Amino acid sequence: MPDITFHLSDGSEVGFEAPEGVTLMQAATGYGVDGILAECGGGASCGTCHVYVDPEWAARLPAPSAREDETLGFTAAERLPTSRLACQVMLSPDHQGLSVTVPAEQR
Ligand code: FES
Repeated sequence: MPDITFHLSDGSEVGFEAPEGVTLMQAATGYGVDGILAECGGGASCGTCHVYVDPEWAARLPAPSAREDETLGFTAAERLPTSRLACQVMLSPDHQGLSVTVPAEQR
């Protein structure tokens, strides 16, 4: 499964190999990545798994659903063109090297 990297607001980064068949959020919470709160458990309704996807990766991910798009409208951190809900990104081997940043507002 893919090696993924989370850049944290303190300037550090956490990189690990994600398990098979999980979302980016599940991989993060399973590994204990700081700032991925996932309060709704993956329902695309809380916005606390908001991440900024590396621009190089943003266009390679499927477009957000209407539900994800709506929730991204009220996240704690500013929405950027590269904003995604980590719970809506299902990981596969194609995501090898995926890199995202956790907004400082989610600490
Ligand atoms: Fe709530 Fe992703 S876990 S929106």
